[in-house]
Amino acid sequence: MLEHDVIIVGGGLAGCRAALEIAKIGSNLNVAVVAKTHPIRSHSVAAQGGMAASLKNVDSADSWEAHAFDTVKGSDYLADQDAVEILTREAPDVVIELEHMGVLFSRLPDGRIAQRAFGGHSHNRTCYAADKTGHAILHELVNNLRRYGVYIYEEWYVMRLILEEGQAKGVVMYNILDGQIEVVRAKAVMFATGGYGRVYNTTSNDYASTGDGLAMTALAGLPLQDMEFVQFHPTGLYPVGVLISEAVRGEGAYLINSEGERFMARYAPSRMELAPRDITSRAIAYEIRAHRGIHQDGTAGGQFVYLDLRHMGREKIMSRVPFCWEEAHRLVGVDAVTEPMPVRPTIHYCMGGIPVNTHGQVRSSGEGLVDGFFAAGETACVSVHGANRLGSNSLLECVVYGRRTGAAIAQFVQKRKLPIVDEQRYVTEAKQQIQALLEQRGQYRINQVRQAFQDHMTQYCGVFRTEELMQEGSQKLQELQKQYSQVYLDDKSNCWNTEIVEALELWNLMVVGRLILESAINRQESRGAHFREDYPHRDDTNFLKHIIAYYSPAGIDIQYRPVTITMFEPQERKY
Ligand code: FUM
Repeated sequence: MLEHDVIIVGGGLAGCRAALEIAKIGSNLNVAVVAKTHPIRSHSVAAQGGMAASLKNVDSADSWEAHAFDTVKGSDYLADQDAVEILTREAPDVVIELEHMGVLFSRLPDGRIAQRAFGGHSHNRTCYAADKTGHAILHELVNNLRRYGVYIYEEWYVMRLILEEGQAKGVVMYNILDGQIEVVRAKAVMFATGGYGRVYNTTSNDYASTGDGLAMTALAGLPLQDMEFVQFHPTGLYPVGVLISEAVRGEGAYLINSEGERFMARYAPSRMELAPRDITSRAIAYEIRAHRGIHQDGTAGGQFVYLDLRHMGREKIMSRVPFCWEEAHRLVGVDAVTEPMPVRPTIHYCMGGIPVNTHGQVRSSGEGLVDGFFAAGETACVSVHGANRLGSNSLLECVVYGRRTGAAIAQFVQKRKLPIVDEQRYVTEAKQQIQALLEQRGQYRINQVRQAFQDHMTQYCGVFRTEELMQEGSQKLQELQKQYSQVYLDDKSNCWNTEIVEALELWNLMVVGRLILESAINRQESRGAHFREDYPHRDDTNFLKHIIAYYSPAGIDIQYRPVTITMFEPQERKY
């Protein structure tokens, strides 16, 4: 059996930042990161627009309090304000720390870190590295992991969390290279496994964003929090859905409908294209519904709107958002210097996740904590984003809460012994699970069931939701889950069998999908990204609370946790 003091699942920003903190604090500690891709291919690498912090480099009137207020208002008052205070207070420090590690942020002419406008932020506070910010940060973090001797299991797929008597004891993992199964026991387990964009059919997320950590946590009997809040990013490149950064609008681009109108004036007159994402995405969806979307031939009634950069000029486009220009050029043949880009909302981020306290320790219920189990980043819900995340607060959360969680773990493991784990039992069960998949005879290819499931979630739990629609979706989803046992695999080998990984991921996607749907049915109000046409208003009397949902094959059990309000009383949200 393998053993480490700490095993971190996930090689993105939150996992790497935590690993680094543990290794720095506890040079005696044996820390490992396990990831199903190479860490520098984690989805964090695709983050484009930047990371918010009130450095005041371009706006001396900014403050952490203003950042906190914008974040809470953006969250539609569902964020826990103690967690938001930590996020925004620590933001300037973590940015400077990253700079000292070697991250190449874009600069002002005087050499200080540049900052730009972003949706829902009242000051220009987003620090960036052109439109490749995640790439710049993740590469430095991974380099630093190597310097500090963190062990990396790359291209291993974690199949199971070992949780016994309320204590996390390790994980079971599968080597994609050769099919080997290993049990790892550890004094502390941390999940930093990212989001679940692949639950839907059009997403800015990479193929690896399959909600594995969320599903493993739910299948271990632990709750997930606020899963109904699924963020659509307003500007996915049509039709592929890849991200065209909000930085493009931060740098001045317009959203235009088929009538040539800057339609955001109707929805958020004071913020226009820089309204928060929930409002902007819904505005685009309304325009498309009202037949003011655009067809490929430029006529009205189509499925996208235009993102127009032309007035920004070549020099600004190529220096500030070169990657977005390149994406549109490469993927849909649009030269954004001379033509508008076709865009529509695309699934981008999950506000919900594994509930944790402000030290990253996982909650077992409204009150309790799980011994030895931690989480941070998109997979966790601390909750700093509430019902709607502001752009550029996600990289920030990964780094602030990755660092805090790492510090908490370093302290936690000092006094602990390695747990006792029945290695044989877990290896046997994992082998049986894989063998059963290999031997299963059925009529469906994995991609058929996955596509049907993704289309289903998009249809029944998308931008606009109603009780009737979601109840129908819930029934049909249970039917779809049954098709999983009729999936067959062509590849029976041990060598780089990606079909096995895809089959395991598919089940995780379906577990997460059910939790999203049932939580969304339960929340009978509209708040942030969760919009109910049958309950179109926010209802603080009945729903100013977090939903925590427990999975079981028989059904989802819903409970609640209070929202922590310390600084800002809920008010009507207007932009
Ligand atoms: O639009 C973007 O660049 C995305 C940023 C974010 O999700 O924080």
